[in-house]
Amino acid sequence: MRRPSPGSIIASNPPEIALAGELLRAGEIVGMPTETVYGLAGDATNGLAVAAIYDAKGRPSFNPLISHLADPADADAFGVMNADAARLAAAFWPGPLTLVVPHRAGSPISDLARAGLDTVALRVPSHPVARALIRAAGRPIAAPSANRSGRISPTEAIHVQAELDGKVAVVVDGGPCEIGLESTVVACINDRPMLLRPGGVPREALRQALGRDLADGDSHGAIRGPGMLESHYAPIAPLQMNVAEPGPDDAVLTFASSKFVGRGPGGPVIDLSPTGDLRQAAARLFGALRELDAFHPSVISVTPIPMHGLGEAINDRLRRAAAPRSDARSD
Ligand code: TXA
Ligand code: MG
Repeated sequence: MRRPSPGSIIASNPPEIALAGELLRAGEIVGMPTETVYGLAGDATNGLAVAAIYDAKGRPSFNPLISHLADPADADAFGVMNADAARLAAAFWPGPLTLVVPHRAGSPISDLARAGLDTVALRVPSHPVARALIRAAGRPIAAPSANRSGRISPTEAIHVQAELDGKVAVVVDGGPCEIGLESTVVACINDRPMLLRPGGVPREALRQALGRDLADGDSHGAIRGPGMLESHYAPIAPLQMNVAEPGPDDAVLTFASSKFVGRGPGGPVIDLSPTGDLRQAAARLFGALRELDAFHPSVISVTPIPMHGLGEAINDRLRRAAAPRSDARSD
């Protein structure tokens, strides 16, 4: 594979798009134009690629990411589209609308891209370069806006390069973004569609397509309120952090430590990364929590995890999982 120098801006002609598609398949992250804002794109089915996205953004927490698809017909493979979702997709896809729907069981979208939720955010962008790139990659593409956390969303290739130089393999230049504002996010989880984030598709247009009003939600991924799906993933077992000496029957989640391996007939032990790689740890975090939970332990004890790099987001997520359940939030 030809490798342009890291962070370079490449044109959006077919050979360059094919190259960017190859980079995505190889787990690299790439600046991707869309009609809303530029995205920081990675293979949504590859936990390590998704971890690299969070790392590049410097996000202190794991916000769930949007999985971008090339065609509306692809959505069924990854999410469960109810009648409202189907109506909105028919009206606004391809375009600046993201639908949050129940995750399709067995779909390959990684736990980390969904931040461990049992829902998935799907969007079919209308930008021809985005669609060509997703098609070239041949898989759903996770992409948050390509700015560092807390900064302004980029609407030109050069902004992405300025924000994330050295963190992306290439930036595909698709020209300035037509809309320049993120997609509207609507959850279609139960019988009341909910507006989670205003954006490129105005509320009035949504209302018209649905034939009724939308409820209002929280833009950070937590869907709360009476009768709403509790979409926050926390293990069923109570979880405690920064435990130096886990009890003999605790399930243990550890990091770069062989101390608890083979400790006998006690609870299960998972090392998030024997080599001490925080990206690997991030990619494995939600799966590991599920695995430990499946043993129905009385408690999951987590040994200290470093706070640098993705460690901050890992610790943030664990803190939420350890919080009293009524306060659990997923942003
Ligand atoms: O226009 C856009 O949407 C751009 C382009 C690149 O597509 N992307 C973007 O991604 O704005 P991001 O990560 O900056 O924002 C995604 C939003 C967040 O507010 C996140 O909480 C919400 O979508 N979201 C994603 N998955 C969700 C889920 N399962 N449940 C609820 N909210 C979710
Ligand atoms: Mg953003």
